[in-house]
Formats: sequence, C-alpha cells, structure tokens
Amino acid sequence: ADALKIGIAGLGTVGASLVRIIQSRANELAVTCGRPVKIVAVTARDRTRDRGIDLTGIEWFGGPVDLAQKADIDVFVELIGGSEGAANAAVRAALARGLHVVTANKALLAYHGVELAQIAEEKGALLNFEAAVAGGIPVIKALRESLTGNTISRVYGIMNGTCNYILTRMEKEGLSFSDCLKEAQRLGYAEADPAFDIEGNDTAHKLAILTTLAFGNRIAADDIYLEGITNVSIEDIRAAADLGYRIKLLGVAQRTESGIEQRVHPTMVPLDSVIAQVDGVTNAVAIESDILGELLMVGPGAGGNATASSVLGDIADIAKSRPGEQRVPVLGHPAKALEPYRKAQ
Ligand code: HSE
Repeated sequence: ADALKIGIAGLGTVGASLVRIIQSRANELAVTCGRPVKIVAVTARDRTRDRGIDLTGIEWFGGPVDLAQKADIDVFVELIGGSEGAANAAVRAALARGLHVVTANKALLAYHGVELAQIAEEKGALLNFEAAVAGGIPVIKALRESLTGNTISRVYGIMNGTCNYILTRMEKEGLSFSDCLKEAQRLGYAEADPAFDIEGNDTAHKLAILTTLAFGNRIAADDIYLEGITNVSIEDIRAAADLGYRIKLLGVAQRTESGIEQRVHPTMVPLDSVIAQVDGVTNAVAIESDILGELLMVGPGAGGNATASSVLGDIADIAKSRPGEQRVPVLGHPAKALEPYRKAQ
C-alpha cells in the first residue's frame, strides 16, 4: 500500500520523540498500520538546534502555515501549542486542503475545537487529538468510542503532570515549589509558559475538551471556575496529611440541576482513595456513567514519549481509516441539545 505521508510542525520534546519513534519502528508500523508511515516534511522555530534526531531526506519548511499549505502530505501533525497564532492558522490551512490533522494542542481545541471539528467534517478529514488530554491515557477514545450509549454524570481527575509532580515532590521530599517547577521544566513536562500549568489553565483546557465530549455542550473554557496551585504551601500539604488527605489539583465536570458545572482547584482527597496514590507526572481520569459505572484510568500524563505515544495512535487510526471516514462526534455533538452552563462559585 502507499505510504502515509506525515508533516510535523513543531520539534520540541514531543515532536522529537515522535520522529525518533516513527523512524526506529518503521517496520513494525508498516505492519500494524497496514501501510508504511513516513515523515516527509517538518518545520520548527530553530533549524540549527541539535535535537538528536536524523532529519536527512525530510523536507524542511519555513513555517507551519507554509508546510500546511504546500507540503505533499496526507497528515498534518501540529505540535506547536498555543490557541492562537501559528498553530491555529496552520491547522486551519491544513483542514482547508482536506488534510487529516493530529494535534496535541489542548489550548487550541479548548477555544476553537468545535469550529475546527466542523471544518474537518465538511472536508471529510479526520481531526484526532488523543494527546491533548492526559498525555498517554486514551481518554478521548474512551469517551468518544468505548462509552457510546452511556449517559455520563461526572468526569474528573488529575490532568496536569507538572502540578502533580510539584505537589508530590514537595510532599515527599520537602523541596520548594520553585525547585520542583524547574525540575518539571527540565524534564520536558511543563508548558512553554509554565504559568499555564501552575495557575490551572492547562487543566481547564483539558477539562473543557472532556466536558464537551462527555456532555455534548458548547465548549466553554472561560466558564470554568479556576484556581491553581501557586498558593499551596508545604504547611498546607502537611496539615492535609495530618487530617488523612492529600492535596491534588483536580479538574471536575458534572451534571447538576442547573447545568454542567466545571471547576479546577486544589482538592483534598482521602489518603486511602486510588486518586490520592497517583504520584509524580502520572495523570488519572475518572468517568462515571450509567451503564459502565465508574472507570478510572491512570497513566503517564506528560513528557515526550507519553504524548508521542498518543499522537502515534492517532496517526495509526488515520492510516487504517477508509477515505471519507468520519468520527462523529468529532468534538461536541450538534445533534444534542446544548446544556445550560453555570460558572461554579
Ligand atoms: N504541561 C502539561 C502537563 C503537558 O504538565 O501536564 C501535558 O499536556
């Protein structure tokens, strides 16, 4: 079969991991995907930086929009980040050409996801974003596919690896907030601007995506009650432990009588609960639904390989798809009545 031609915009931690994995497993991928998967085009801000990857034979483009518009590819992989700017413009350019898009960009989806999904549907393209929420945990697949037919009452969890890493190391090793954050940045977990992690915005972006998939409502990241972990001190963590709790930054979305409530804030969880045992960069997402009951998924939530693993799964889905195949709902569900919202207090 013809190779699936991939263009990658963004060669940071995730992009470099993805290149390494696709190149080193070319033979296995050709078998599991039913056709070879080949990276033919890339772009990144700095061409000269040594990323420890071999880009010989791969065409270099001057920028993401240029690549999205001109490269001879089947799939545009967006690993730049940010809700506006280059990532947004390039994804739109790719979809306009009918290219399939794979993105790990939660901020982009939290603000423009439903609109982008509609463009993808019109163009008969797939828009896949498993890596956008909880890194390597297949929560998008669970909501979109496995739980079909279930009525969901609540989705919640630890969705930011950086914050969970900071809280864990502060508690277990007594390290300062800023040292833990620096270490999370060094390990490639944090956002380009780590304020998005520690102020809770990144969790809110991910929660907004999950809420829309779970409840079919309009996407509303700015309606989420938001409180990050910057005011959590070692004393708070110790006091919680004395009372039998651990402090975790949770994102929670649930049905209430007045609509879907969404909130992000540090939460005291009982020490003997499963979610309290989730340490370090690990994420956990719980989904409560009427047919299945409670599902809890725990796994690596950030970092190059965890995120690249989900991106690769999305690419494999496209390799195996039939032309014109749609995934409905892509995001949101236009067929369902929109749920009223309230901003939790
Ligand atoms: N900065 C994010 C985190 C990366 O720490 O979870 C994964 O989305």
